Amino acid sequence: MKILGIETSCDETSAAVLEEKNGVITVLSNIVASSLSLHTQTGGIIPEIAAREQAKYIIPIIEEALRKAFDWNPSMTPPPIDAIAVTFGPGLIGSLLVGVETAKTLSYVWNKQLLGVNHMHGHLFANWISENNNKKEIPLPALGVVVSGNHTDLLLIQKDYSINVLGGTRDDAAGEAFDKIGRLLGLGYPAGPIISKLAEKGNPKAIHFPRPMTDTKTYEFSFSGLKTSVLNLSKKDTLKNYSLEDICASVQEAIVDTLVKKVMFALEENQVKSVVLGGGVSANSRLREKLSKALAMYMLPLFFPRPDLCTDNAAMIAAASIYTKIETNWKELTANPELYY
Ligand code: KG4
Ligand code: ZN
Repeated sequence: MKILGIETSCDETSAAVLEEKNGVITVLSNIVASSLSLHTQTGGIIPEIAAREQAKYIIPIIEEALRKAFDWNPSMTPPPIDAIAVTFGPGLIGSLLVGVETAKTLSYVWNKQLLGVNHMHGHLFANWISENNNKKEIPLPALGVVVSGNHTDLLLIQKDYSINVLGGTRDDAAGEAFDKIGRLLGLGYPAGPIISKLAEKGNPKAIHFPRPMTDTKTYEFSFSGLKTSVLNLSKKDTLKNYSLEDICASVQEAIVDTLVKKVMFALEENQVKSVVLGGGVSANSRLREKLSKALAMYMLPLFFPRPDLCTDNAAMIAAASIYTKIETNWKELTANPELYY
């Protein structure tokens, strides 16, 4: 089965072709264009600009994904795909609409099956792409950990691939914490990768930032206090006593420790056979390192996608469509910015 995936939930316009054969999922193409450079000066995404850029890029990006996979061009008959999978939420409404309406039109004119995909499922099921799990089967049930710019969620992925939510953040998401603190420190956007890079040369114990809610036996997170703590230190001029590298390493350590502690709590409460990470923050090497070490004690395998498949891309959307199978048609599918699991 060959699937064209389309992802336009935020500032990335992406199209991919995936092939599934006897349980092996291969990426034939995965093209990503981003309007990120237009948002860096403002320190965050401007929805109207993101949507306009989506409209500009969507057709060329789909064409490129099909050309790379099949040497296809628009003057030919419909491409040799079996289905079109598209993100229908959550995300920015203007951006989502571009992908959803394009997918509906293509499904109608090419007479192809249409599959609606939840963006958060995409982050989890990126792990099922064969180059991410070395073709090893991911043992289920699994604890799913989605850490992105908008979500910090602990989930149970059952044997039938259905998903139960255990809990999530009360306020800022992990990626949002990186981004907001990065803005306070005058770094670029998104700040996660920049803080992570600077942290490599810093001392993670230089400043002890709070790890909120880690002593409570709940699945809830709270990251807004960390941002306030950085702000308070900067107001008192205390931050000036530390190098930027030390501040970044200490901030990253607080976020990573909080995530690891909550994962450990979830493992005490639930019998699972593996842990599956997903979302932009799962590209963070300190998180991967500390979580791997903590899981060794439980003898549980940890899965995480290749860094470019952690952040938003269409290959993960096509992969999720294989497991979630939300079949729809062009008359029914509508974008849903508030979609949850
Ligand atoms: O999953 P994603 O691409 O978009 C959403 O669905 O939100 O995640 C983007 C988030 C941003 O907040 C970014 O700062 C963070 O992922 N991020 C990282 C790293 N790479 C991306 N955070 C920490 N370390 C990284 N290496
Ligand atoms: Zn995402």
